[in-house]
Amino acid sequence: MKYFLDSAKIEEIRYAYKNWGIDGVTTNPRHIMNSGKPFLTVLKELGEEFKNVENFPISVEINPHLEDPEEMVREGKEIASLSSNFIIKIPCTEPGLIAAKRLEEEGIRTNVTLVFSPSQALQPARIGAKFVSPFVGWKENSGEDTAPYIQDIVDIYKMYNAKTEIIVAALRNGKQIADAAKAGADIVTCGFDVYKASFAHPFTDYGLGVFRDAWDNTAKELEEVK
Ligand code: E4P
Repeated sequence: MKYFLDSAKIEEIRYAYKNWGIDGVTTNPRHIMNSGKPFLTVLKELGEEFKNVENFPISVEINPHLEDPEEMVREGKEIASLSSNFIIKIPCTEPGLIAAKRLEEEGIRTNVTLVFSPSQALQPARIGAKFVSPFVGWKENSGEDTAPYIQDIVDIYKMYNAKTEIIVAALRNGKQIADAAKAGADIVTCGFDVYKASFAHPFTDYGLGVFRDAWDNTAKELEEVK
């Protein structure tokens, strides 16, 4: 399962690429706002940073106010022209799906986002979107157990041999990452801190303390043997 970083902060993206080997990036308007930089500046930074890296998808969301498919397509094309790594992130609305279909027909790859049900995940696959992004965290905040819904999407895609890759998005903890892997999702996208936390366990830290004590208590003997 691939790991994408959900961020628009160039420093953490650079760090995660170099040290964790992340496979791609997803951004959204909120991440870009949180980067503290203007939209186009962020896009230029990301395009420049990965200009020599092939197969490194960077999802960039169109203006969420757009409701006309023609305008969505126009903006998608403009964004896509800035970098061959850019994937056009489009909301899973009817106009969004129309725009995604047109962009895919013209060879511009799309990520259909803000997906919250298996039925919503069907049309992105039918139109050949490159990615679909079902959200987890937002639904879990509303008291839903999302593991079955992600499993349903994976199973349906397998059943119909869909080529669209599933990015399980808006994850908040390591359990949700593991659940996505268990379901057979292609990709997860998480924030920097969620990945960091997923690499750790309190018993690992406890065990390190135990082993460090043991090491310190045998170090002198080892020196004597040398
Ligand atoms: C995914 O592609 C989205 O950018 C992301 O997961 C949105 O949710 P969040 O910012 O609440 O995590």
